Amino acid sequence: DTWMQLLKSLIATSLIVAVSLFVVVVNYSEKPYFLLQPVFGQTFSSHWIFSKQPYKAFKPHLGYVSIPKQEPLKLHCELCSIVSSSGQMLGQAAGPQIDRSPCIWRMNNAPTRGFEHDVGRRTTLRVVSHTSVPLLLQKPQYFFGQGNDTIYVVWGPLRNMRKDGKGIVYNMLRQAAENYPHARIYVTTEDRMNYCDMVFKKETGKDRIQSGSYLSTGWFTLILAMDMCKEIHIYGMINDTYCKTEGYRKVPYHYYEAGSRDECAEYQLHESAPYGGHRFITEKSVFAKWAKTHAIKFFNPPWQLS
Ligand SMILES: *[C@@H]1O[C@H](CO)[C@@H](O)[C@H](O)[C@H]1NC(C)=O
Ligand SMILES: *[C@@H]1O[C@H](CO)[C@@H](O)[C@H](O)[C@H]1NC(C)=O
Repeated sequence: DTWMQLLKSLIATSLIVAVSLFVVVVNYSEKPYFLLQPVFGQTFSSHWIFSKQPYKAFKPHLGYVSIPKQEPLKLHCELCSIVSSSGQMLGQAAGPQIDRSPCIWRMNNAPTRGFEHDVGRRTTLRVVSHTSVPLLLQKPQYFFGQGNDTIYVVWGPLRNMRKDGKGIVYNMLRQAAENYPHARIYVTTEDRMNYCDMVFKKETGKDRIQSGSYLSTGWFTLILAMDMCKEIHIYGMINDTYCKTEGYRKVPYHYYEAGSRDECAEYQLHESAPYGGHRFITEKSVFAKWAKTHAIKFFNPPWQLS
């Protein structure tokens, strides 16, 4: 009896020792990797050192998963040019410069056809709001057809993106992935959505849900770009004081919607909407702050960052 007990406790003890040894070994084998990485990597690059979220070259990103396989997004780019959908893009002839950059990101269904001179021709990735998915599906062959290697990253609230058959937008995407098996469609995970809300709260002190606002596609785009792009060039985005500047250029809210409400009027409406608005201006002041610690540059109009 006592021998059995002794044997049992001996086995238990050796199990604990084995597990601890394993943990120690794993820790040791991981540490040199993290220690060596900066040495061989980017020790002297300021944006690596100062970045809150170091840019993760080639590491699969668990915050974005493919449809239907649920594989994490693997992406890396030396330079991402983010083309805004703003009317600021018009008449600046930035197309050729944009097309020279290795990665070109656009938002929602913003077209290139007919606007090539101002916005460029190529698209490597689109960040798409759940509300814009039906717009893409109006031209499914164009966006998802074979020969198109554009990556689509869709964000949306759980109620529309749930995978249990009740998420109306997720269902649409699953159908598109079935019809266009070559399409590269990713969705933002619930955890990542919560993370993006958390970042808004941390940066503004305001709870997004309590303050009755929605994050913009631009917000999700910049958070993704800071993880995936070593350097970021943003075209056509105004800063947080632009609309208060004497004699600012009045442009349509979207470059592809001529005659729509002026951009600043639209921004002001959203900023003061008690419920359901985007806080575009607040977001811009956060972007200016991020540009101090990340390699982010703004063109057309340029931002003067101290
Ligand atoms: C792929 O889709 C994008 C839109 O995301 C479009 O700009 C591009 O022209 C398409 N490319 C091809 C080869 O169809
Ligand atoms: C913001 O934009 C306005 C208008 O383009 C410009 O005058 C001002 O210098 C900009 N501020 C910063 C900090 O870039």
